[in-house]
Amino acid sequence: MIAKTQSLKHILRSQQFTVSFLESLFTRTDQLRTLFENGGRGTVKQLLSGRLMYYLFWESSTRTRFSFTTAARHMGMEVEGTENAGEFSSAVKGETLEDTIRVLSSYAPDVIVMRHKEMGAADRASKISSAPIINAGDGRGQHPTQALLDLYTIKRELGIIGHKKVVIGGDLRRGRTGRSVVYLLAKYPGIRFYFLSPESLRMEDDIKEYLREKHIPYEEHTTVKQSLQIADVVYWTRVQQEREEEGLLELTEREVMEFTLDKEQLSWLPKQTVLLHPLPRVREVSIQVDADPRACYFRQAENGMFVRMALLEWILAPVF
Ligand code: NCD
Repeated sequence: MIAKTQSLKHILRSQQFTVSFLESLFTRTDQLRTLFENGGRGTVKQLLSGRLMYYLFWESSTRTRFSFTTAARHMGMEVEGTENAGEFSSAVKGETLEDTIRVLSSYAPDVIVMRHKEMGAADRASKISSAPIINAGDGRGQHPTQALLDLYTIKRELGIIGHKKVVIGGDLRRGRTGRSVVYLLAKYPGIRFYFLSPESLRMEDDIKEYLREKHIPYEEHTTVKQSLQIADVVYWTRVQQEREEEGLLELTEREVMEFTLDKEQLSWLPKQTVLLHPLPRVREVSIQVDADPRACYFRQAENGMFVRMALLEWILAPVF
């Protein structure tokens, strides 16, 4: 049975959200967090009890998968899925994504969380599925729920999201988290972007066009110091070595050094700056940086579970 899909609450890309939705989601995230942390786990256990989540990951994941499945379980959901759909699903026999989603959604899950290596895969799934699809990353495309937790973290750390100078640094060409957070931040007033990357990893044109159309200022830089000195928010990302569709890409030793944050780079940052990173960090942020109060990335990852609780609730049993 294929239900009408238009009315389902698919989560596919950052552009789909409004600021008023985000503000409500973040308020609800805070409420759920308070219930969970102060009232005990049992206080949220009934909220989604009896609901079923499927998760299908064709690409590796730690935080996204665990925070989704754990958020679901804390709220009483049943969870079923695979973290290696490329090998442990019929994809290995040549089944199309469309057929897999058609069949799985006929078993009546309440939501399907999926990560795929192809850009646009979640969109394709949403056209077939009779359950809401959550895009947990589609190749070089987007990772909208990461962007939700990124903005929640900025709000929690700085009080407000708008009127900030935001440096997005690292692999901007192939990283989906940088793309998604830009689309989402672009909804807020007074944001000015500084795209900081090695020459070969510059931000793609689609994002720059989007910003130009909306008259949102951005600058592109390839040297680090100048941008870090004025940043309110730094969003740092790793080089996506696994995305080598266009042949092996070698950064120069100077570029690698330049794009590794260490004590020296920290000394360039203003006192109130928040340093975000979606994780996993490889070598682009030294572990020397972890103890600095401006380094938010582990708090950011923790926030992810609560934001995903609020998002699952909004999809399945909305209170706003
Ligand atoms: C990111 C991703 O998968 O895009 N990880 C995550 O979900 N936190 C970032 C990355 O892999 O670099």
